[in-house]
Amino acid sequence: MSPVIAIDGPAASGKGTLARRIAASYGLAHLDTGLTYRAVAKALLDRGLALNDEALAVETASSVDFDTLDREALSAHGVGEAASKIAVFPGVRRLLVARQRAFAARSGGAVLDGRDIGTVVCPDAAVKLYVTASAEIRAERRHREILAGGGKADLAEILADICRRDMRDAERADSPMRPATDAHLLDTSEMDIETAFQAARAIIDQRLCRAD
Ligand code: CDP
Repeated sequence: MSPVIAIDGPAASGKGTLARRIAASYGLAHLDTGLTYRAVAKALLDRGLALNDEALAVETASSVDFDTLDREALSAHGVGEAASKIAVFPGVRRLLVARQRAFAARSGGAVLDGRDIGTVVCPDAAVKLYVTASAEIRAERRHREILAGGGKADLAEILADICRRDMRDAERADSPMRPATDAHLLDTSEMDIETAFQAARAIIDQRLCRAD
């Protein structure tokens, strides 16, 4: 069996950490699709180019090397914000989704996390999770992450950024962020990562077992 597990959810919901742990636990390859959007945004930012020009964003997306996505280099909060600006462009999404689907089609199965995996990239995924948490909790998590990495950040500003990004991601015309109708909702507001991981495992085991 080569299952595809789709994990979607808003910024700082914990979906990335969860996806990595699930991939390791089930021995599956993992793609954080957010990094693909971040890579395009960072390439534009590094050259001081505009984020609101679709043709430029598409040209940049076609020249980024997606085989060597460096999580560390792409992790800055501002890069996430910039990523959500270029992620509204259908031309950029078409290019990136084609690469993401190729990744999902590998033999052996895969875990992909993002905003539109269960709805657009892998609508036939064996298991779909939609991971959420309140905006306040997500802002606190992101704030702690930045401080732990030695950075400085203002909690109120992060909360405002997260709300703005949620709105941009949920309201764009192409592939808006939303749970697939057959996704399992996992609200991690009151869960630590271990509890969320155990809850996700229970859902996955039940789904994969049913699919056998
Ligand atoms: O880690 P965080 O949740 O903050 O963000 P991310 O998953 O790295 O995604 C950064 C941005 O890329 C999101 O705000 C989305 O606008 C965009 N994105 C998307 O449109 N579709 C995806 N499948 C993944 C990310």
